[in-house]
Amino acid sequence: MILITGGAGYIGSHCAVEFLNNGFDVLIFDNFSVGHREIVENIQSDFKNLFFIEGDLKNKKDIDFVFKNHKIDAVIHFAAYSQVAQSVKDPKEYYENNVIGTINLLSSMVENNVLRIIFSSTAATYGEPKYVPIDENHPQSPINPYGRTKLMIENIMDDYDKAYGLKSIRLRYFNVIGANYKAKIGEWHNPETHLVPNILKSDIIPNYIFHVFGDDYPTKDGTCVRDYVDVEDLAVAHRLAYNYLAQNNKTDVFNLGSESGYSVKEIYDAAVRVLDKKIPIEYSKRREGDPAVLLAKSSKAKNILNWTPKKNLSESIKNAYEWEKILSNLS
Ligand SMILES: NC(=O)c1ccc[n+]([C@@H]2O[C@H](COP(=O)([O-])OP(=O)(O)OC[C@H]3O[C@@H](n4cnc5c(N)ncnc54)[C@H](O)[C@@H]3O)[C@@H](O)[C@H]2O)c1
Repeated sequence: MILITGGAGYIGSHCAVEFLNNGFDVLIFDNFSVGHREIVENIQSDFKNLFFIEGDLKNKKDIDFVFKNHKIDAVIHFAAYSQVAQSVKDPKEYYENNVIGTINLLSSMVENNVLRIIFSSTAATYGEPKYVPIDENHPQSPINPYGRTKLMIENIMDDYDKAYGLKSIRLRYFNVIGANYKAKIGEWHNPETHLVPNILKSDIIPNYIFHVFGDDYPTKDGTCVRDYVDVEDLAVAHRLAYNYLAQNNKTDVFNLGSESGYSVKEIYDAAVRVLDKKIPIEYSKRREGDPAVLLAKSSKAKNILNWTPKKNLSESIKNAYEWEKILSNLS
């Protein structure tokens, strides 16, 4: 059985469906601090082999209970807080939840002899890019507490490998988009800080304004360029990483991006084309700490994991739009 922490959230739920579709038993562990019970129920309505335990990684006994009562083969660890601005305002919450929560998880794994984990790391561990595209050897120098929690966890994982033989694959994601609306799952953050849902909400929710932060960057159209990867492609990468870890039993790290950058304006224009209507838009000042261009070099994941992202931008936007319509009736 695969344990998925944070499986009631956006990426974790898509990963659960990917593993379930491939015949695995899956156990989701989540405290619903930012995830949603409806997401777990929606997956459970399609799969009998999805199990769920409500618990908080900050309470070690909650996660000990999971390992004592279930035979876990490997862990896929999504549970975390991940709002950059919030992490600057309230770093204590972030260090406690992300770092202490993960130490509890890793310690419980070692105590119960579960020694394989796939971890959601982030492009935010790199900080200001020194060069693009960013490869896995780019220096890691995060510029906010959120990114620092993830880098600390990577370092802790190295120490747990050396001392206790715990093997980890760190997947450093760039910008994740899309949804599996047919499974009734998708992005559901509060507040929503991500680009695509904000563009789409601006069409669906009355008086919701999509803001472009800065149009004077040194890029082709003045707006920031980012690397987008579809959430279903990302879920496949987790399954391939699981296979790799099972076969090679070795710690490693992979960037997961698409290697093709789009500017904010290009994403907005693509959404206008997909929806075939005008979407309200407003321009605001730059936000602090937003680099002009963030692009991943993902050839390592392609060559070693055999991972090929399949969804194009229009498909991802279309799926996200269908999900936003479902979400507008849920929230
Ligand atoms: N979404 C992105 O674009 C992106 C990019 C890079 C990295 N990441 C990382 O990927 C992971 C998943 O991201 P997401 O967008 O799906 O996040 P999300 O907020 O949708 O999901 C996180 C889940 O973890 C749960 N959780 C948080 N703290 C917990 C705790 N102490 N105990 C139990 N459950 C807890 C939440 O309830 C939620 O269901 C996160 O670790 C995030 O840092 C996401």
